[in-house]
Amino acid sequence: LVLILDYGSQYTHLITRRIRKLSIFSLCISGTSPLQSIADLNPRVVILSGGPHSVHADAAPSFPEGFVDYVEAKGVFVLGICYGLQLIVQKLGGEVRIGDRQEYGRMEIEVTARASGLFGSKEVGDRQSVWMSHGDEAVRLPDGFAVVAKSDQGGIAAIENRERRFYGLQYHPEVTHSPEGMETLRYFLFNVCGVTADWNMEDVMEEEIKTIKALVGPEDHVICALSGGVDSTVAATLVHKAIGDRLHCIFVDNGLLRYKERERVMETFETDLHLPVTCVDATKQFLGNLKGIVDPETKRKIIGREFISIFDMFAQDLEHKLGKRPNFLVQGTLYPDIIESCPPPGSGRTHSHTIKSHHNVGGLPKDMKLKLIEPLKLLFKDEVRELGKILNVPQGFLKRHPFPGPGLAVRVLGDVTEGNALEILRQVDEIFIQSIKDAGLYDSIWQAFAVFLPIKSVGVQGDKRTHSHVVALRAVTSQDGMTADWYNFEHKFLDDVARKICNSVRGVNRVVQDITSKPPSTIEWE
Ligand code: XMP
Repeated sequence: LVLILDYGSQYTHLITRRIRKLSIFSLCISGTSPLQSIADLNPRVVILSGGPHSVHADAAPSFPEGFVDYVEAKGVFVLGICYGLQLIVQKLGGEVRIGDRQEYGRMEIEVTARASGLFGSKEVGDRQSVWMSHGDEAVRLPDGFAVVAKSDQGGIAAIENRERRFYGLQYHPEVTHSPEGMETLRYFLFNVCGVTADWNMEDVMEEEIKTIKALVGPEDHVICALSGGVDSTVAATLVHKAIGDRLHCIFVDNGLLRYKERERVMETFETDLHLPVTCVDATKQFLGNLKGIVDPETKRKIIGREFISIFDMFAQDLEHKLGKRPNFLVQGTLYPDIIESCPPPGSGRTHSHTIKSHHNVGGLPKDMKLKLIEPLKLLFKDEVRELGKILNVPQGFLKRHPFPGPGLAVRVLGDVTEGNALEILRQVDEIFIQSIKDAGLYDSIWQAFAVFLPIKSVGVQGDKRTHSHVVALRAVTSQDGMTADWYNFEHKFLDDVARKICNSVRGVNRVVQDITSKPPSTIEWE
């Protein structure tokens, strides 16, 4: 295991993912975790991540008391990256100075010791372009440490103490702006630390199935709410493989789904995946309760509440049928939702393991007392897709753009029941998405959709003036949905789409495009 201690760098997850791409199992925990948590995981290598803090700050996060003794006693290798390097230097008796020479962005470094454990690979050059982002710098190394690379500015770029198995890089090897960084990490992990490449998705699947079988007794029943998204579908398919039809899934048509969504996802669930799914048509219940509601937060609350009541009814019906209440619930929680870290103050990142705040069923009845099964909780999104592929989830389904739990309710601004807003939106959205697919752009875009605006504008269609609806198109690229950039379509593409929408969707005479990124906007409009 390669264990990453997180000190809040925006790249920490990337280190974990990159190491897993080398087929090495890697986990990430808070950089201030107690020694016991580290020892329990019995790592072969510990990587201390970068972070926005200064080692001189009052509350500077650090590894726990006894960490250095522990790693030395156990022969664990330690690699510090950026802040991690500075922690090693400061804690082992060297000196880190505050912000004299600041190095940000692309920098050139010179390897000064080719025989070093960090630069032993024949594939890396003596001179390298690397990505730096630090204010503080190490100015005096602890006894026994050597500088093995310097920046062109004269700063320390890499250090090591082979005997004590401590290494450090002042730059970020995990980002693509350090082109030789991955080879450096690969060589270090395999050739210096002796880690083996034995982590793969087939084994993960088998392990998970074993765990689920051991957890769920032969009389137990499990429920799962399918949203139509990748995570819940892959989670349910995995659990189904483990316990068969003691899994009971529900898919709710809340009247806020996209064009032919219900038919499309039910076909995948039933025909491709053979999942036991009950499809509940709750259109009237949801839309009835949303009538006249314009406040976005109130809309979301109502939707969450209705989901809970339907879920509760589903559980009660099952209890009648089975003679006992289901006692487990499957959730498609992913690793980024549960990673504990040392986030910088004010970053909005949290420490705790909470049930997904964007949870698709909008929370659960408090008295249900279900035990959770979260079979994807150690995986990143791309790994879930890989697992889905092994489980025969159709490729087209695995690549679907994210879709919010409250559905089109957050894309019809204001009262969703007003006129035929939902119907218009479905048609516009379908034209937009289909055009994106036809142009071969779907997989390069994180999310694309249309929004129905609560305004009318004047147009001229045929020989008549019209007073009709305005729709907005939104498409963004993103890594994780936390930040996003608006997608820049070609002029001709936009022209064709706008023409097609106005010509084929009755009641629309104007199409606009959303050209804001996140921040300042959110991806959804409500
Ligand atoms: P925002 O709009 O906050 O969205 O920038 C970030 C990502 O989250 C999705 N989203 C949701 N997903 N339930 C969900 O399951 C929700 O209530 C919800 N609200 C936003 C959004 O589509 C984007 O991918």
